[in-house]
Amino acid sequence: MRIDVFSIFPEYLAALDLSLIGKARQDGLLDVRVRDLRDFTDDRHRTVDDTPYGGGAGMVMKPEPWAQALGTALDGAAEEGARPTLIVPSPAGEVFTQQTAYELAAEDHLVFACGRYEGIDERVLEWAGEHFDVRPMSLGDYVLNGGEVAVLAMVEAIGRLVPGVVGNPESLVEESHSDGLLEYPVYTKPSQWRERPIPEVLLSGNHAKIARFRRDEQLRRTSERRPDLIARLDPSTLDKADKAT
Ligand code: ADE
Repeated sequence: MRIDVFSIFPEYLAALDLSLIGKARQDGLLDVRVRDLRDFTDDRHRTVDDTPYGGGAGMVMKPEPWAQALGTALDGAAEEGARPTLIVPSPAGEVFTQQTAYELAAEDHLVFACGRYEGIDERVLEWAGEHFDVRPMSLGDYVLNGGEVAVLAMVEAIGRLVPGVVGNPESLVEESHSDGLLEYPVYTKPSQWRERPIPEVLLSGNHAKIARFRRDEQLRRTSERRPDLIARLDPSTLDKADKAT
């Protein structure tokens, strides 16, 4: 998968060299290209922002550097007739969820445009719609200073779902949100720690009982912490014993 990231703070994205995503880049599974938006300016001051029409606080990112930058992400794509997905992190976007991560992990080419200040001139997104599938995306209902931290989160969530990136794909099956529920609690040795034993059933060797215990814990945790997820559960994914809990 090819991933282009444009930012005025490319150093923020250095973390993409580390850990699983860094290894996936070395292994050639992810082709991540981080570029400085200021390289696409043509004035001495490398200006990327200007005052907003209509007045108001803050600055707005100018359209020209973005058009130049995004144009380079289309290299090769246009001939093949491909439409890369352009993700624009913004608190005004649709909420990024595990479902979004699954969808985007199936794409060949993602482009991330990190806005700063009050955002990017809206006409850039309109123009980009001619060449990209444009998706403004929010991490949640809070405001960050710019898109870079959101891109780190999204690239990690998407990248780990690309086949081969996580060594043991089974570990993706039983994690939070994979089935609409939060994950069950986990324990390791010692079995007694500071007078706290682990739940006895985990020592029973009875796999059906252990599965039932874990499923009940998922349901209990999700009801307690995220009742909104329970309300959205597809009833056909519940079994008889679930309904009794
Ligand atoms: N940029 C600023 N705030 C953001 C958020 N909540 N999600 C994604 N990008 C952002």
